[in-house]
Amino acid sequence: MRKVNTYNMDTENMPLHVGIIMDGNGRWAKMRGLPRTAGHIKGADVLKKITRYCYDVGIKTLTLYAFSTENWKRPDEEVSSLFKLFNEHLKNYKSIMGNREALIRFSGDREPLSDEIKRRMKKLEDYSEQFRHTGFTFNFAINYGGRAEILKATKELCEKYKNGEIELSDINEETFEKGLYTAGLPSPDLIIRPSGEERLSNFLIWQSAYSEFVFSDVLWPDYTTEKFAEAVAEFQKRKRRFGGI
Ligand code: FPP
Repeated sequence: MRKVNTYNMDTENMPLHVGIIMDGNGRWAKMRGLPRTAGHIKGADVLKKITRYCYDVGIKTLTLYAFSTENWKRPDEEVSSLFKLFNEHLKNYKSIMGNREALIRFSGDREPLSDEIKRRMKKLEDYSEQFRHTGFTFNFAINYGGRAEILKATKELCEKYKNGEIELSDINEETFEKGLYTAGLPSPDLIIRPSGEERLSNFLIWQSAYSEFVFSDVLWPDYTTEKFAEAVAEFQKRKRRFGGI
């Protein structure tokens, strides 16, 4: 018999790790004659709703792409409003999650971020360690770029090789993945991108080798839990072969 949870989702074949490219905030705002920041504020609201929903329906790991290494090219005003939003989210994290207990991870290069944000990130990670057992990991990709991440992991291995800590034969997918920001997390089973764009934009490019992709035309600020459930249902229809038959 088909096993479903209270959300009528098939629990036998849930994606363990879902990645979301939260796209379309700017267009959503433009269509309404609002500044782009208004789209990000509404997008942050949707982020809260979807994160809670993922936790409740039993997704184990959620990675949200909030700021890419390429997003620094945006006008200063937009960049600073995004970091202001991020800072507020870090500050109000517990109420945003409605006290759901989760392990928090951040993927990306923290170096260029403000001291205040770096401090809050570290504090939240340390605080959340006690929730490792809950099985839900909330991974926030901030100042994240897949290419930069691959270079970071490569440099770490080169350094170890140079110092005689490893041999060439020690370099394999497993040792390489230890240098990724996502070390210890499973590869994403499902990657969702709303807004009508159908590309990865440097998101989890190593990790997504066998991910299933679900695209939708809805802009992120209009994204709903129903849309998310549809994406999971679509994932559950797919036949994954991982190169086999
Ligand atoms: C892409 O939409 C969205 C982003 C670059 C930022 C994502 C941020 C949020 C969802 C807000 C929450 C963020 C934090 C930090 C808590 P876009 O601006 O590229 O949209 P467009 O393609 O329509 O211009």
